[in-house]
Amino acid sequence: MPKLLLVATGGTIAGSAADTTDTSRYRAGALSTDSLLAALPEAASLGQITAEQPFALDSKDMTPIHWLALATLLRERLAAPEIDGIVVTHGTDTLEETGFFLHLTLPRTKPVVLTAAMRPATARSADGPMNLLQALACAGTRDAAAFGPLVVAGDRIWRARDCSKQHTHAPDALGGVDAGPIGVAIGTQVRLDHVGEGAATAFAGVLPNEVPRVDVLSAYAGAPADLIDASVANGAAGIVLALAGHGSVPADWLPAIGKAVTRGIPVVRASRVASGGVMPQANFDDAAHGTQACGRLTPWQARVALMLAISTGMARNALQETLLRA
Ligand code: SIN
Repeated sequence: MPKLLLVATGGTIAGSAADTTDTSRYRAGALSTDSLLAALPEAASLGQITAEQPFALDSKDMTPIHWLALATLLRERLAAPEIDGIVVTHGTDTLEETGFFLHLTLPRTKPVVLTAAMRPATARSADGPMNLLQALACAGTRDAAAFGPLVVAGDRIWRARDCSKQHTHAPDALGGVDAGPIGVAIGTQVRLDHVGEGAATAFAGVLPNEVPRVDVLSAYAGAPADLIDASVANGAAGIVLALAGHGSVPADWLPAIGKAVTRGIPVVRASRVASGGVMPQANFDDAAHGTQACGRLTPWQARVALMLAISTGMARNALQETLLRA
């Protein structure tokens, strides 16, 4: 029997509503790990399970301080011989950001599996109980470790770096845009259809004590360039631009970008378009302007990588390479 740790952070999977048909007005993170596990007697057949609850948050309130605390906790628990795999419960709203932070910062020694739910635990057809069972089954599958953190929901398994929220309310809200699942769960049987690459990322060494402010600024018709000036004036150490199309920079923004870059503030071009990302030099001369391109990362993922790059003192040329490979 694998020894599995459940690390609960809140979310709808631990949500509770007064009415069993109310799937939008409920309190996320209301239920303890004891009540989640008490409702799942089947979990005992998947492993010896212990639980911890570092937070009980609606994930809209998750901050980089929580990411650092969670990554520190998980790194300690992964090093413990009495733990074979870890499941993290999380809200769906910002799971993609926490998942990507963990993707960048955790070693790939044992499975780490995030799971979530769209319907509160008190709802008819709640999706959380089966998601949690499938996540526990996946965390007990040794080969899952080599992919880095995974997300399990609705019978499918994605790498956390490829999974984001695709729908605001439907039960199958989580999914990949440019990358599909790496496996499936059928009941509590797990099937991995690919082989994980094993090596952890450049950020899986020493975890920084804190990460700096990095802002994501969205382009839109008529968006003023002083958004960039305001971000710099308010202390941003890096800026990610969620630009139109393939990272097209509004002409009006060029002076403000130039000022930020001259002050040593890295500026990363990303796109507000859902898929495709932004390649270096595409639609813009990054080399001439001192900017970087996000590769296939979303703006929010690029922000996470940039925060870690700045806090670990990564050199500019290494940053572009890291963004492309993250
Ligand atoms: C949250 O993200 O904590 C609430 C929404 C959800 O989990 O689906």
